[in-house]
Amino acid sequence: MRRVVFNQKGGVGKSSIACNLAAVSAAEGYRTLLIDLDAQANSSHYLTGLTGEDIPTGIADFFKQTLASASTRRNRADIYETPFDNLHLITATAELAELQPKLEAKHKINKLRKLLEELDEDYERIYLDTPPAMNFYTVSALIAADRVLIPFDCDSFSRQALYGLLREIEEIREDHNPALRVEGIVVNQFQARAALPQRLLDELIAEGLPVLPVYLSASVKMRESHEACTPLIHLDPGHKLSRQFVELHQVLEAGA
Ligand SMILES: Nc1ncnc2c1ncn2[C@@H]1O[C@H](COP(=O)(O)OP(=O)(O)OP(=O)(O)O)[C@@H](O)[C@H]1O
Ligand SMILES: [Mg+2]
Repeated sequence: MRRVVFNQKGGVGKSSIACNLAAVSAAEGYRTLLIDLDAQANSSHYLTGLTGEDIPTGIADFFKQTLASASTRRNRADIYETPFDNLHLITATAELAELQPKLEAKHKINKLRKLLEELDEDYERIYLDTPPAMNFYTVSALIAADRVLIPFDCDSFSRQALYGLLREIEEIREDHNPALRVEGIVVNQFQARAALPQRLLDELIAEGLPVLPVYLSASVKMRESHEACTPLIHLDPGHKLSRQFVELHQVLEAGA
């Protein structure tokens, strides 16, 4: 099962959700891999504590190999073992930005899918974190994945973008990946005391959009978790936000 976490809007919680769901998945005993596809490398930092040059060239190295070889040789990606049991990582680095036009020019859009088909043998769950743009890496991920999770921040501008995003995902499904399914919209930074977010969500649900029933609260604990480079389930398992991630994970697995 491969899940891609994507929304082209920046800062909606893609990396936070991908890493924390992957951490819950691993803690529940699933052999879990997170692949960071964002040149910002936020997930790579969060799960390793490393920064800048110290982050190994995981996925960029794989993509470089695909540019160098026209043969059928298997291209591989280095796998990093995080300090958390069952949780492995393929890191991202800034180099991804320079590689992108070359990968596009050489039509390498299906290579990630090939890699994931091989990794399926070793991992029960694969999570993909994506950059905030519909670009080569996100399209590669949507072609490679079974399910899409769309983080949503309850903002009315984000709502308008959501319709466009759903159309684009549908187009990729039709043209490249018939198995792709929108698993749901993940409500993040939900403020229960404000009237507007709930009203907005009620409207989306009434329109038939697949809003997942567990809403993730806004909490400073998330920032603390990033600073400690420790997913919430390990930092503070009893915290409300940690419990919401566990519940969200349960909902996803129950429907998987
Ligand atoms: N539930 C939450 N409560 C409080 N802060 C949050 C929550 N979720 C995310 N944040 C904060 O919002 C910011 C953006 O989160 P994150 O990096 O996960 O988003 P992103 O969509 O991956 O961003 P980008 O588009 O830049 O990759 C971070 O500072 C993070 O700590
Ligand atoms: Mg991110």
